[in-house]
Amino acid sequence: MDCCIIFALWYFVPLVLLIHLLFFIFGDADFALLWASLVGHKPEDKLKGLVVWVTGASSGIGEELAYQLSKCGSRLILSARREEELKRVKRNCLEYSNLQDDDILVLPLDLLERASHEEKTKAAIQHFGHIDILINNGGRSQRSLFLETSVDVYKALMELNFLGTVSITKHVLPHMIQRATGSIVTVSSVAGLAGVPLGTGYSSSKHALQGFFNSLRTELTSYPKLVISTVCPGPVQSKIVHNAFTEELNKPLATAGDQEHKMSTSRCVRLMLVGIANNVKEMWIAQQPFLLFHYVWQYTPTFAWFVTNILAKKRVQNFKAGLDADSSYFTKPKTS
Ligand SMILES: NC(=O)c1ccc[n+]([C@@H]2O[C@H](COP(=O)([O-])OP(=O)(O)OC[C@H]3O[C@@H](n4cnc5c(N)ncnc54)[C@H](OP(=O)(O)O)[C@@H]3O)[C@@H](O)[C@H]2O)c1
Repeated sequence: MDCCIIFALWYFVPLVLLIHLLFFIFGDADFALLWASLVGHKPEDKLKGLVVWVTGASSGIGEELAYQLSKCGSRLILSARREEELKRVKRNCLEYSNLQDDDILVLPLDLLERASHEEKTKAAIQHFGHIDILINNGGRSQRSLFLETSVDVYKALMELNFLGTVSITKHVLPHMIQRATGSIVTVSSVAGLAGVPLGTGYSSSKHALQGFFNSLRTELTSYPKLVISTVCPGPVQSKIVHNAFTEELNKPLATAGDQEHKMSTSRCVRLMLVGIANNVKEMWIAQQPFLLFHYVWQYTPTFAWFVTNILAKKRVQNFKAGLDADSSYFTKPKTS
């Protein structure tokens, strides 16, 4: 009997380790999320019919969330500032899904106008009767060096990415507590876990979100059906760099660079929906070597700083030389 156990362990343990290693090398998400994508609930089964409020739904990740959720049969509340873009997203959702006009509410919303958030939440609840999932996705990034950046930019980043998200959550959470069920999913970033050059304000706002939601989760332990999740994507194809804050509030970014090296929006969103369907509380979604970098940051911070310093130096130099700072981490920067 003992021999059998030793024999089984002898083969089983290395096999499990090998599977994990292969998962890691070829993976584009953390282990929990990858396992959930293989053996967990399918978003099509779990999210069908649920009412999902997506902020930042007019572009990028939020727009793709709207498309994939509508295909899953979720009913949607689409929010962002640009109403015409939201209407375009709604038309596309209706064209490619079985949803009816009434199943999608276009609800224009400015995350900075916190005084309007109570009324917007009431409008969303009035339309569908309840909200099952809030996806706090709206936000902006930053491409500028600290020494050259106005403090107004830091205030704007915190107002939008942090306080705007906290404010919507503040209005939606009591409704979910009353029903003792619901999910609040917040799109943070790898920059919410690690430091990034050219994004001191952005990274601060995402670290603030991580701290806020990790703490909020600990206050809600008596509601087992109330799930607080954060999503930490690496670089994903979207308008994020194009729309980034720079040194001054209204100064546009000179060059947004290319998107080739980034994860596709559809893959990122698919993994997010798998995580939501399986109540994963923290989702790391990134291609290699960004995923490896996440793990290194968590387990060996001293070594992580060694690597970070090399990469950061290169990125700052390229930025100062007017080159594409984003694709220059691991690939040769384009000079024209
Ligand atoms: N793409 C990436 O590489 C990446 C990586 C990690 C995390 N993220 C996070 O993913 C989220 C979505 O970004 P994205 O990549 O999809 O970028 P995006 O294409 O620029 O989309 C940003 C969305 O946020 C909305 N938004 C901006 N300011 C707003 C405001 N004041 N009020 C309400 N909505 C506002 C925009 O809509 P309007 O302009 O119409 O208001 C837009 O729908 C962000 O939180 C970002 O930090 C992105």
